[in-house]
Amino acid sequence: MKGIILAGGSGTRLHPLTHALSKQLLPVYNKPMIYYPLSVLMLAGIRDILVISAPDQVDTYRALLGDGEQLGISIDYIEQDEPRGIADAFVIGADYIGNDPVTLILGDNIFHGPSFSALLAEATRDVSGCVLFGYSVKDPERYGVGEVDAEGRLLHIEEKPSRPRSNLAITGLYIYDNEVVDITKNLGPSARGELEITDVNIAYLKQGRARLVDLGRGFAWLDTGTPESLLQAGQYVQVLEQRQGVRIACVEEIALRMGYIDAGACYRMGVAMGKSDYGVYLMDLASGRQQGQP
Ligand code: G1P
Repeated sequence: MKGIILAGGSGTRLHPLTHALSKQLLPVYNKPMIYYPLSVLMLAGIRDILVISAPDQVDTYRALLGDGEQLGISIDYIEQDEPRGIADAFVIGADYIGNDPVTLILGDNIFHGPSFSALLAEATRDVSGCVLFGYSVKDPERYGVGEVDAEGRLLHIEEKPSRPRSNLAITGLYIYDNEVVDITKNLGPSARGELEITDVNIAYLKQGRARLVDLGRGFAWLDTGTPESLLQAGQYVQVLEQRQGVRIACVEEIALRMGYIDAGACYRMGVAMGKSDYGVYLMDLASGRQQGQP
């Protein structure tokens, strides 16, 4: 299974924050936004990850995450010269994907909830077709929307409908078998000239090979698209981290718990982060003093 983080886009609703800096590098409380989607892919057990970003930002992502070796994973980078829609990830990432299934996550989507690792492990095992994740929101018209029947079977998908058939937004986490590459190749651009992820999902739905997993109400899927929602996401993370004394989306901790790195490597990364609370957390964790869960 390959993983792709889409970190392109112009983040216009966040200007001037995103004039010079990619949205997915902005802070969500105490870490860059991209740590959150990266942690999701790592929790799913995915160790080959491609970051897609605008040409002028690739070097910054590389400076932040390197080749992933420090986390016991492999991170590659590809430039997207201009935004051409989410599904363009499967065009520019086709060689990288090769013959493997692939999980795509949008770099600005933040997921947090109980038993997420187990859910991801189940959803990424023997993928046939596609697995989408639904989340009830009060403003579904802002998203891709899924309609399910009483048994939870997916009936209908629509992108930003003016009259949504349900409250179930389709989140920015998508798991596909390898056919996604061919499906996208045969897809034309939408009315706004983009390769729409919703059109890919509709193609799978038509083949009867799309599944939607409802994340449920005990889960948090947070928006970061406006200054208000970005601040709220940071506050959510702050409240939980301070109350519980654990870190959300601490990629070094996940690498340690997944067995990708040993305690010594985790400790050294803590030391390298100097006196920040984050660095101290890593040192404590490596010395066995921190019992938190990722
Ligand atoms: C995109 C997708 C939409 C999905 C959303 C999740 O919308 O097109 O289907 O629900 O991401 O974040 P965008 O945020 O690009 O408007």
